This record gives sequence, structure tokens and C-alpha cells, in this order.
Amino acid sequence: MTWLRTLAGCAAATACLLTAARAEETDPGAIVAAQFAAGGNHTGVRASGAKGVCLKGEFVPAPGAAALSKAPHFAKAVPVTARFSMGGSNPKVSDKAKPVTRGFAMRMEDPAGDMVFVVISAPVFSTKTPAQLLEFLQVRAPGPDGKPDAEKIKAFSAQNPETTRQAAWLNARPVPASYAGVDYWAVHAYTLTNAKNEGKVAKLKFVSADKAGLSDDELKAKPDSFYGDELKERLAKGPARFDLVAILAEPGDPTADPTASWPEENRKAETLGTLSIAAIAPDAACDARTFDPVAELPEGVAGPTDDPMFAIRSPAYAVSVSRRAN
Ligand code: HEM
Repeated sequence: MTWLRTLAGCAAATACLLTAARAEETDPGAIVAAQFAAGGNHTGVRASGAKGVCLKGEFVPAPGAAALSKAPHFAKAVPVTARFSMGGSNPKVSDKAKPVTRGFAMRMEDPAGDMVFVVISAPVFSTKTPAQLLEFLQVRAPGPDGKPDAEKIKAFSAQNPETTRQAAWLNARPVPASYAGVDYWAVHAYTLTNAKNEGKVAKLKFVSADKAGLSDDELKAKPDSFYGDELKERLAKGPARFDLVAILAEPGDPTADPTASWPEENRKAETLGTLSIAAIAPDAACDARTFDPVAELPEGVAGPTDDPMFAIRSPAYAVSVSRRAN
């Protein structure tokens, strides 16, 4: 059933079957168990993004968006339910934590079907295959002394250098001053298809209208949880805005490896619209189900068929939802 839902989100069924078969070699349940083991075995929370805040807003497409995608969300303004979060399964993680991705999940709602993106504050993910993700998490599980084995992590990183790119990228930048003060990337390569069935491969990026990072001194002065209050104050003055930008692929750009970024500054970019976060919403509006970035895509937007990290997200998110509901 879960795999049927995953396949429904794929554009080319044969390629998707192959990707799904490869992804299935690693048990999504084992990955979710390893996510919890690495972040502390907390109950009733998400396997990642355990600490977060639910939001309401609106997506207004740019005039040129429909030329790239026939999804109804690019033809008219639609309501949005969204959630900002901290990476990992620890609901008490500090908002000052580094190198930790900030997350942004969103459902752009339309009666004909929703469009879901679940994105992070880095252009790359930490691993390129589900098997590598499982091992990446397993070496980070705390031992009897409550700490992960630094030597094991070092050895894994040396053998899997691409798994160090995300942390290196985050460590080279300041901690965001706000959930709304940082850019977010969908990481995978999507295909946008317009009404003439012309397809373009693109990476999607949500560009903050008010980027701000904290200096070391500013960070020291903050309490462990400040993003919630900062957001309340910010939204009392007006919406937090992000432009959704499609960074268009050039021949040879990798489409199956979310640890590999494209040289954005040398790529053509098209603005697809503006996402405005207007208010904080009750947790229940985000917690009843998951934001599934694989199964919840409309015609005109397809995830990659050859990236095994994309395919496995759907069953893993389903395991996490059923676990936190129990
Ligand atoms: C590859 C790019 C990925 C990105 C950008 C990403 C991002 C995120 C974000 C932002 C959340 C929080 C969602 C929320 O607030 O509801 C989340 C949740 C989660 N992620 Fe990922 N993730 C990625 C890949 C994966 C993979 C490969 C797995 C496992 C195989 C995974 C497992 C999970 C799980 C289990 C949850 C909790 C879902 C829930 O309980 O609703 N993620 N992810």
C-alpha cells in the first residue's frame, strides 16, 4: 500500500519501479528506528523535525510560473499549511544547535490535489542512498556513556566523504536568527511540466526575504528556545515571505544524488511565486498526518525517478506517523 502511494508520485512508472526496488533493499522502518536511536528514543514525536511550529499562509504564483508547470498551484493563489522545524528526533534540541538543518514542510492546498514540499536549510542532504543513511545514523547512536563513538564517525566519514558535505556547509555559515531568516532547498531534482508537455529539470529553493544569521556573541546571549517567540513577534508585524525559485539544470548536472549541489550562480533561475507565512497554527493542523513530499505532488511537478533517497521518504514518513500516533 505504501509503495503504491510512492509509485503514484513518480512520473515514469518503469524507472520508478527500479528506484523503488533499489530503495526497498533498505527497510524504511530500520531507518526510522535509527533516527530515533541517534536523537534519543522520544515518543509521540517525528523521527525528524521533532521540534517545530505549525503555520498558515498563502502561495501566490508568479506570472511566468504556468509556463513552466501546469500544476493548478501555479495558476492561482492557494492556501498553505506549513511547519518550521529543527532536524532530528529530539524535541528538546536547542535552537542554537549547529550543524543542524532547519526544516520547512508545506502543503499547498487545492481541491484537485495538494502539492507538498519538505525542504531544509542546506542545498544538500547528508547521504546519497538509503543504505548509506542507515549506516550514517547507526554510527551516531550514543553508546553506554551517552555519547556516540567519535572514532566510528571519523572512520565512516573517511569512507563516505560525500556524507560530510552538509555539515561542512552548515558549519561554514552562521546559525539562522529566525526560522524565516534562512533559505531552504528541496535538495532533489524535480521535473516541471507545462500544459504543452514540455519538461524542465530543476532544483527548487525557497529564498528568504529577510535573511539573517547570528554572530557568536549574539548566539551566546540567546536562550535554547527562541525561534517560537521570534516568529510570534515577526508575524505580528506582517507575513514572513519566501520566493520559490526553480534553478534550471544544465546537461550533466547530477539528478540522482542529493549530496551533490549544482553551481547555482551559473544556472538560469525562474521565480515560480511567493510563499507568505501569515500566522502560527495549532499543532493539530500539522500533526494529524505527515507532509509526504513523494506521494503528494500534482501533475506538472514530479520528483526524480532515479534518486533512491526520494523514493524511500514516503514509506519512512508513514512509519514515523504511525509510530507517533501510538
Ligand atoms: C533527502 C532529503 C530530505 C529532506 C530535505 C528532509 C526533510 C525533512 C523535514 C523538514 C522534516 C520535518 C517534517 C515536518 O515538519 O513534518 C522531515 C521529517 C522526516 N524525515 Fe526527512 N528529509 C529528507 C530525507 C529523508 C529520508 C531519506 C528519510 C528516511 C528514509 C527521512 C525521514 C524522515 C522522517 C521519518 C520524518 C518524520 C515524518 C513525520 O513523522 O511526519 N527524510 N524530513
